[in-house]
Amino acid sequence: MKTKVLFVCLGNICRSPLAEGIFRKKVHDRGLNNQFHIDSCGTAAYHIGDHPDRRSVSNARENGIDYDHLGRQLRVEDFEDFDYILPMDDSNMSDVLYRKPVDATAQVVKMRDFDPLGKGEDVPDPYYGGPQGFQNVFEILDRTTDELLDFLMEEK
Ligand code: 4NP
Repeated sequence: MKTKVLFVCLGNICRSPLAEGIFRKKVHDRGLNNQFHIDSCGTAAYHIGDHPDRRSVSNARENGIDYDHLGRQLRVEDFEDFDYILPMDDSNMSDVLYRKPVDATAQVVKMRDFDPLGKGEDVPDPYYGGPQGFQNVFEILDRTTDELLDFLMEEK
């Protein structure tokens, strides 16, 4: 059975589509495409239908990842359609938990609970910062998605 994973941030143009893109590549590189359904969304509606932020895309390309996504907002069906919902920071976490139905089947886990070098911390929002912020987010998500994939494969 496929494990269904949903990455969540605020706008769905910086952090969560990048997490989706990096995770997708790791899944592909390990030959596990048929084992996972992967998506991302935002808690806010500002960027519905938008491609990822160009700064994120060009930074990811420098790091060997090509990805695309169209922004969408979190919906109530996600809580039964996905096995794992992974918010990027505490603010995203409280927004997700606020919308979580009582009978939700999805497990909501903060993304950096899987980070060996900063367990439980926020994935910082790079939107208002400079290029270093995008590289920092890339490195956090790169190592965290590795651990996440190991964890999910052990769960199977
Ligand atoms: P993200 O970053 O949550 O990582 O996609 C943001 C993108 C857009 C905005 C805020 C954060 N915004 O305010 O439009």
